[in-house]
Amino acid sequence: LQALAAKTRPDLRIGAAVALGPLSSDEDYARVLVGNFGSITPENAMKPQFLSPRQGVYTFEEADAIIAMAQSKGMIVHGHTIAFTEAMPRWMRELPSGTDAERKSSAAALLDYVTTVVTHFKGRLDSLDVVNEPFDVDQGTSFQQNIWYRVFGSGYPAVVSKAVYAADPAVKQFINENGADVPGRRQDALRKLASDTNAQGGHLYGVGLQAHVYDIGTDAISAGDLSKTLDAFDAAGLRVRISENDVTDDQGTDTQAQQYATVLAGCLRSRACVSYTTWGVDDRYDWSIDHDGNLRQGHDFLFHDGQPTPAYDAMRQVLGG
Ligand code: G3I
Repeated sequence: LQALAAKTRPDLRIGAAVALGPLSSDEDYARVLVGNFGSITPENAMKPQFLSPRQGVYTFEEADAIIAMAQSKGMIVHGHTIAFTEAMPRWMRELPSGTDAERKSSAAALLDYVTTVVTHFKGRLDSLDVVNEPFDVDQGTSFQQNIWYRVFGSGYPAVVSKAVYAADPAVKQFINENGADVPGRRQDALRKLASDTNAQGGHLYGVGLQAHVYDIGTDAISAGDLSKTLDAFDAAGLRVRISENDVTDDQGTDTQAQQYATVLAGCLRSRACVSYTTWGVDDRYDWSIDHDGNLRQGHDFLFHDGQPTPAYDAMRQVLGG
Protein backbone atom coordinates (compact mmCIF):
# COMPACT_ATOMS: atom_id res chain seq x y z
CA LEU A 1 0.00 0.00 0.00
CA GLN A 2 2.75 2.47 0.88
CA ALA A 3 4.62 1.75 -2.35
CA LEU A 4 1.47 2.38 -4.41
CA ALA A 5 0.66 5.59 -2.55
CA ALA A 6 4.18 6.87 -3.13
CA LYS A 7 3.56 6.98 -6.89
CA THR A 8 0.92 9.70 -6.67
CA ARG A 9 1.35 11.19 -3.20
CA PRO A 10 4.97 10.75 -2.09
CA ASP A 11 4.21 12.86 0.99
CA LEU A 12 1.36 10.62 2.18
CA ARG A 13 2.07 7.95 4.77
CA ILE A 14 -0.03 4.82 4.99
CA GLY A 15 0.14 3.52 8.53
CA ALA A 16 -1.14 1.00 11.04
CA ALA A 17 -1.43 0.76 14.80
CA VAL A 18 0.83 -1.97 16.16
CA ALA A 19 1.34 -3.97 19.33
CA LEU A 20 4.62 -5.57 20.34
CA GLY A 21 3.06 -8.97 21.17
CA PRO A 22 2.13 -10.04 17.63
CA LEU A 23 5.02 -8.09 16.15
CA SER A 24 7.53 -10.25 17.97
CA SER A 25 5.64 -13.56 17.88
CA ASP A 26 3.70 -13.75 14.60
CA GLU A 27 5.65 -13.83 11.33
CA ASP A 28 2.55 -13.20 9.21
CA TYR A 29 1.78 -10.06 11.17
CA ALA A 30 5.31 -8.70 10.82
CA ARG A 31 5.43 -9.60 7.10
CA VAL A 32 2.10 -7.88 6.37
CA LEU A 33 3.09 -4.83 8.38
CA VAL A 34 6.48 -4.35 6.80
CA GLY A 35 5.17 -5.18 3.32
CA ASN A 36 2.39 -2.59 3.35
CA PHE A 37 2.89 0.28 5.74
CA GLY A 38 5.25 3.24 5.84
CA SER A 39 4.26 4.45 9.26
CA ILE A 40 3.29 2.90 12.57
CA THR A 41 1.49 4.10 15.69
CA PRO A 42 2.17 2.12 18.88
CA GLU A 43 -1.37 1.13 19.86
CA ASN A 44 -0.79 1.31 23.62
CA ALA A 45 2.94 1.30 24.40
CA MET A 46 3.36 5.09 24.54
CA LYS A 47 0.33 5.81 26.67
CA PRO A 48 1.14 7.30 30.10
CA GLN A 49 -0.20 4.26 31.98
CA PHE A 50 2.39 2.10 30.21
CA LEU A 51 5.29 4.60 30.17
CA SER A 52 5.09 5.65 33.82
CA PRO A 53 3.35 3.16 36.11
CA ARG A 54 4.60 5.03 39.19
CA GLN A 55 5.54 8.68 39.59
CA GLY A 56 9.13 9.23 38.49
CA VAL A 57 9.44 5.62 37.22
CA TYR A 58 9.62 5.10 33.46
CA THR A 59 9.29 1.87 31.47
CA PHE A 60 10.32 2.72 27.93
CA GLU A 61 11.38 -0.79 26.84
CA GLU A 62 8.27 -1.81 24.90
CA ALA A 63 7.93 1.49 23.04
CA ASP A 64 11.66 1.51 22.29
CA ALA A 65 11.44 -2.02 20.85
CA ILE A 66 8.55 -1.06 18.56
CA ILE A 67 10.33 2.08 17.39
CA ALA A 68 13.59 0.20 16.75
CA MET A 69 11.75 -2.35 14.61
CA ALA A 70 9.98 0.40 12.65
CA GLN A 71 13.19 2.32 12.04
CA SER A 72 15.05 -0.80 10.94
CA LYS A 73 12.40 -1.25 8.23
CA GLY A 74 12.33 2.39 7.13
CA MET A 75 8.95 3.16 8.70
CA ILE A 76 8.25 6.43 10.48
CA VAL A 77 6.63 6.51 13.91
CA HIS A 78 3.62 8.48 15.15
CA GLY A 79 3.64 8.79 18.95
CA HIS A 80 0.37 8.23 20.81
CA THR A 81 -0.18 9.98 23.26
CA ILE A 82 0.64 12.53 26.00
CA ALA A 83 -2.56 13.91 27.59
CA PHE A 84 -5.32 11.27 27.44
CA THR A 85 -7.99 10.89 30.15
CA GLU A 86 -8.53 7.18 29.61
CA ALA A 87 -4.93 6.00 29.66
CA MET A 88 -3.43 7.68 32.72
CA PRO A 89 -1.66 5.80 35.50
CA ARG A 90 -3.24 6.12 38.91
CA TRP A 91 -0.58 8.51 40.27
CA MET A 92 -1.27 10.98 37.45
CA ARG A 93 -5.04 10.66 37.66
CA GLU A 94 -4.93 11.30 41.43
CA LEU A 95 -2.60 14.32 41.52
CA PRO A 96 -4.19 16.91 43.84
CA SER A 97 -5.73 20.04 42.35
CA GLY A 98 -7.84 21.58 45.11
CA THR A 99 -5.64 24.51 46.14
CA ASP A 100 -3.22 26.85 44.37
CA ALA A 101 -0.28 25.14 46.06
CA GLU A 102 -1.52 21.71 44.98
CA ARG A 103 -2.09 22.85 41.43
CA LYS A 104 1.41 24.29 41.37
CA SER A 105 3.09 21.07 42.48
CA SER A 106 0.87 18.95 40.22
CA ALA A 107 1.69 21.22 37.28
CA ALA A 108 5.37 20.58 37.90
CA ALA A 109 4.79 16.80 38.02
CA LEU A 110 2.80 16.82 34.77
CA LEU A 111 5.31 18.99 32.94
CA ASP A 112 8.13 16.81 34.22
CA TYR A 113 6.34 13.82 32.67
CA VAL A 114 6.01 15.62 29.31
CA THR A 115 9.64 16.71 29.26
CA THR A 116 11.00 13.31 30.30
CA VAL A 117 8.97 11.39 27.73
CA VAL A 118 9.45 13.75 24.79
CA THR A 119 13.18 14.07 25.50
CA HIS A 120 13.50 10.29 25.64
CA PHE A 121 11.91 9.86 22.19
CA LYS A 122 13.44 12.99 20.64
CA GLY A 123 14.53 12.49 17.03
CA ARG A 124 12.72 9.16 16.69
CA LEU A 125 9.13 10.35 16.24
CA ASP A 126 7.84 12.02 13.11
CA SER A 127 4.68 13.18 14.83
CA LEU A 128 2.89 12.97 18.17
CA ASP A 129 -0.61 13.23 19.63
CA VAL A 130 -0.02 15.85 22.32
CA VAL A 131 -3.68 15.68 23.38
CA ASN A 132 -6.01 12.75 22.74
CA GLU A 133 -9.79 12.90 22.97
CA PRO A 134 -10.13 16.22 24.82
CA PHE A 135 -13.90 16.38 24.47
CA ASP A 136 -16.64 14.62 26.42
CA VAL A 137 -17.20 10.97 25.63
CA ASP A 138 -20.88 11.73 24.99
CA GLN A 139 -19.90 13.30 21.66
CA GLY A 140 -20.36 16.79 23.05
CA THR A 141 -18.08 19.79 22.75
CA SER A 142 -16.96 20.44 26.32
CA PHE A 143 -13.66 19.33 27.82
CA GLN A 144 -13.28 16.12 29.78
CA GLN A 145 -12.44 17.43 33.26
CA ASN A 146 -9.23 15.44 33.65
CA ILE A 147 -6.16 16.32 35.69
CA TRP A 148 -4.68 18.38 32.83
CA TYR A 149 -7.83 20.50 32.74
CA ARG A 150 -8.06 20.80 36.52
CA VAL A 151 -4.45 21.92 36.84
CA PHE A 152 -3.98 24.13 33.77
CA GLY A 153 -7.55 25.09 32.86
CA SER A 154 -9.05 25.23 29.38
CA GLY A 155 -5.72 26.35 27.90
CA TYR A 156 -4.07 23.04 28.80
CA PRO A 157 -3.55 21.91 25.18
CA ALA A 158 -1.37 24.98 24.58
CA VAL A 159 0.57 24.32 27.80
CA VAL A 160 1.25 20.73 26.74
CA SER A 161 2.10 21.80 23.20
CA LYS A 162 4.64 24.36 24.38
CA ALA A 163 6.27 21.86 26.72
CA VAL A 164 6.51 19.30 23.90
CA TYR A 165 8.02 21.93 21.59
CA ALA A 166 10.60 22.90 24.19
CA ALA A 167 11.78 19.28 24.40
CA ASP A 168 11.52 18.44 20.67
CA PRO A 169 10.81 21.36 18.30
CA ALA A 170 10.83 19.08 15.24
CA VAL A 171 8.10 16.60 16.14
CA LYS A 172 4.83 17.39 14.34
CA GLN A 173 2.12 17.92 16.92
CA PHE A 174 -1.51 16.83 16.65
CA ILE A 175 -4.70 16.85 18.70
CA ASN A 176 -6.53 13.59 18.04
CA GLU A 177 -10.29 13.22 18.50
CA ASN A 178 -13.09 10.78 17.75
CA GLY A 179 -16.52 11.65 16.39
CA ALA A 180 -15.13 14.71 14.59
CA ASP A 181 -14.72 13.00 11.21
CA VAL A 182 -17.98 14.37 9.85
CA PRO A 183 -19.09 18.02 9.66
CA GLY A 184 -20.94 19.19 12.74
CA ARG A 185 -20.58 20.82 16.16
CA ARG A 186 -17.92 18.46 17.43
CA GLN A 187 -15.79 18.97 14.35
CA ASP A 188 -16.24 22.75 14.57
CA ALA A 189 -15.21 22.61 18.23
CA LEU A 190 -12.08 20.61 17.38
CA ARG A 191 -11.08 23.07 14.66
CA LYS A 192 -11.61 25.97 17.06
CA LEU A 193 -9.64 24.24 19.80
CA ALA A 194 -6.71 23.62 17.45
CA SER A 195 -6.74 27.21 16.17
CA ASP A 196 -7.10 28.63 19.69
CA THR A 197 -4.24 26.43 20.89
CA ASN A 198 -1.93 27.86 18.26
CA ALA A 199 -3.17 31.40 18.96
CA GLN A 200 -2.13 30.77 22.59
CA GLY A 201 1.43 29.96 21.52
CA GLY A 202 0.96 26.24 20.81
CA HIS A 203 2.71 24.43 17.97
CA LEU A 204 0.07 22.19 16.45
CA TYR A 205 0.69 20.92 12.93
CA GLY A 206 -2.82 19.55 12.66
CA VAL A 207 -5.54 17.29 13.94
CA GLY A 208 -6.12 13.56 13.94
CA LEU A 209 -9.56 12.41 12.86
CA GLN A 210 -9.92 8.87 14.14
CA ALA A 211 -12.60 7.61 11.72
CA HIS A 212 -13.63 4.55 13.68
CA VAL A 213 -16.71 3.27 11.87
CA TYR A 214 -18.33 1.02 14.46
CA ASP A 215 -21.68 0.72 12.73
CA ILE A 216 -21.56 0.84 8.98
CA GLY A 217 -25.32 1.39 8.86
CA THR A 218 -25.26 4.61 10.87
CA ASP A 219 -21.65 5.91 11.05
CA ALA A 220 -20.43 5.47 7.48
CA ILE A 221 -18.39 8.46 6.29
CA SER A 222 -19.48 9.74 2.87
CA ALA A 223 -17.09 11.04 0.22
CA GLY A 224 -18.87 14.41 0.24
CA ASP A 225 -18.65 14.84 4.01
CA LEU A 226 -15.00 13.86 4.06
CA SER A 227 -14.16 16.29 1.31
CA LYS A 228 -15.94 19.14 3.15
CA THR A 229 -14.14 18.16 6.34
CA LEU A 230 -10.67 18.14 4.82
CA ASP A 231 -11.32 21.45 3.03
CA ALA A 232 -12.43 23.07 6.28
CA PHE A 233 -9.28 22.05 8.16
CA ASP A 234 -7.14 23.05 5.18
CA ALA A 235 -8.74 26.50 5.18
CA ALA A 236 -7.86 26.81 8.86
CA GLY A 237 -4.21 26.05 8.07
CA LEU A 238 -4.32 22.65 9.79
CA ARG A 239 -3.12 19.32 8.39
CA VAL A 240 -5.15 16.18 8.98
CA ARG A 241 -4.19 12.65 9.83
CA ILE A 242 -6.86 10.01 9.33
CA SER A 243 -5.51 8.49 12.49
CA GLU A 244 -7.41 5.34 13.52
CA ASN A 245 -9.66 4.23 10.68
CA ASP A 246 -11.35 0.87 10.99
CA VAL A 247 -14.69 -0.40 9.76
CA THR A 248 -16.50 -2.95 11.86
CA ASP A 249 -18.40 -5.54 9.89
CA ASP A 250 -19.12 -9.03 11.15
CA GLN A 251 -18.91 -10.52 7.68
CA GLY A 252 -16.18 -8.58 5.87
CA THR A 253 -18.57 -7.44 3.13
CA ASP A 254 -18.26 -5.23 0.06
CA THR A 255 -19.96 -2.45 1.98
CA GLN A 256 -17.06 -2.53 4.40
CA ALA A 257 -14.57 -2.59 1.54
CA GLN A 258 -16.24 0.43 -0.07
CA GLN A 259 -16.14 2.36 3.18
CA TYR A 260 -12.42 1.74 3.58
CA ALA A 261 -11.91 2.80 -0.04
CA THR A 262 -13.97 5.98 0.39
CA VAL A 263 -11.96 7.15 3.38
CA LEU A 264 -8.60 6.45 1.76
CA ALA A 265 -9.68 8.06 -1.53
CA GLY A 266 -10.81 11.20 0.29
CA CYS A 267 -7.46 11.46 2.05
CA LEU A 268 -5.57 10.87 -1.19
CA ARG A 269 -7.41 13.73 -2.93
CA SER A 270 -6.77 16.33 -0.25
CA ARG A 271 -3.44 18.09 0.16
CA ALA A 272 -4.33 18.67 3.82
CA CYS A 273 -4.38 14.93 4.49
CA VAL A 274 -0.84 13.87 5.37
CA SER A 275 -1.42 10.38 6.72
CA TYR A 276 -3.90 7.56 6.54
CA THR A 277 -3.62 5.11 9.45
CA THR A 278 -5.75 2.08 10.18
CA TRP A 279 -6.15 0.98 13.82
CA GLY A 280 -4.89 -2.56 13.39
CA VAL A 281 -3.38 -4.99 10.94
CA ASP A 282 -5.10 -8.36 11.21
CA ASP A 283 -8.44 -9.43 12.68
CA ARG A 284 -6.53 -11.98 14.77
CA TYR A 285 -5.53 -9.09 17.01
CA ASP A 286 -8.74 -7.11 17.03
CA TRP A 287 -8.60 -4.60 19.89
CA SER A 288 -12.31 -4.16 20.31
CA ILE A 289 -14.19 -5.72 23.18
CA ASP A 290 -17.88 -6.61 23.21
CA HIS A 291 -20.36 -5.70 25.95
CA ASP A 292 -19.39 -8.79 27.98
CA GLY A 293 -15.73 -7.85 27.89
CA ASN A 294 -14.79 -10.53 25.34
CA LEU A 295 -12.55 -9.80 22.39
CA ARG A 296 -14.79 -9.33 19.37
CA GLN A 297 -12.58 -11.06 16.82
CA GLY A 298 -14.76 -9.84 13.96
CA HIS A 299 -13.85 -8.58 10.52
CA ASP A 300 -12.48 -5.13 11.11
CA PHE A 301 -9.10 -4.87 9.41
CA LEU A 302 -7.41 -5.28 6.05
CA PHE A 303 -6.10 -8.76 6.81
CA HIS A 304 -7.79 -11.83 8.23
CA ASP A 305 -5.58 -14.67 9.46
CA GLY A 306 -2.68 -13.35 7.41
CA GLN A 307 -4.73 -13.10 4.19
CA PRO A 308 -5.84 -9.89 2.45
CA THR A 309 -9.56 -9.08 2.68
CA PRO A 310 -11.83 -7.46 0.05
CA ALA A 311 -11.17 -4.18 1.87
CA TYR A 312 -7.45 -4.56 1.19
CA ASP A 313 -8.12 -5.11 -2.51
CA ALA A 314 -10.37 -2.05 -2.58
CA MET A 315 -7.63 0.03 -0.96
CA ARG A 316 -5.12 -1.16 -3.57
CA GLN A 317 -7.49 -0.13 -6.33
CA VAL A 318 -7.88 3.35 -4.87
CA LEU A 319 -4.10 3.64 -4.95
CA GLY A 320 -3.99 2.57 -8.59
CA GLY A 321 -2.80 -0.98 -7.95
O1 G3I B 1 -1.46 -4.71 29.24
C1 G3I B 1 -2.48 -4.85 30.24
C2 G3I B 1 -2.34 -6.15 30.96
O2 G3I B 1 -1.12 -6.15 31.67
C3 G3I B 1 -3.52 -6.31 31.91
O3 G3I B 1 -3.47 -7.57 32.53
C4 G3I B 1 -4.85 -6.22 31.13
C5 G3I B 1 -6.08 -6.33 32.06
O4 G3I B 1 -7.09 -5.44 31.70
O5 G3I B 1 -4.89 -4.97 30.52
C6 G3I B 1 -3.86 -4.76 29.55
O6 G3I B 1 -3.99 -3.48 29.05
C7 G3I B 1 -5.03 -3.28 28.11
C8 G3I B 1 -4.41 -2.68 26.86
O7 G3I B 1 -5.42 -2.36 25.93
C9 G3I B 1 -3.39 -3.62 26.20
O8 G3I B 1 -4.01 -4.78 25.77
C10 G3I B 1 -6.05 -2.32 28.69
O9 G3I B 1 -6.73 -2.94 29.77
C11 G3I B 1 -7.06 -1.92 27.62
O10 G3I B 1 -7.90 -0.89 28.15
C12 G3I B 1 -6.32 -1.37 26.42
O11 G3I B 1 -7.26 -1.02 25.45
C13 G3I B 1 -6.82 -0.08 24.51
C14 G3I B 1 -7.71 1.17 24.57
O12 G3I B 1 -7.31 2.09 23.56
C15 G3I B 1 -7.59 1.91 25.91
O13 G3I B 1 -6.38 2.60 26.06
C16 G3I B 1 -6.90 -0.71 23.12
O14 G3I B 1 -5.96 -1.78 23.03
C17 G3I B 1 -6.57 0.35 22.06
O15 G3I B 1 -6.79 -0.18 20.77
C18 G3I B 1 -7.48 1.56 22.26
O16 G3I B 1 -7.12 2.55 21.31
C19 G3I B 1 -7.87 3.75 21.38
C20 G3I B 1 -6.91 4.90 21.13
O17 G3I B 1 -5.85 4.88 22.06
C21 G3I B 1 -7.64 6.24 21.16
N1 G3I B 1 -8.80 6.25 20.30
C22 G3I B 1 -9.73 5.13 20.44
C23 G3I B 1 -9.01 3.80 20.33
C24 G3I B 1 -9.98 2.63 20.43
O18 G3I B 1 -10.63 2.64 21.68
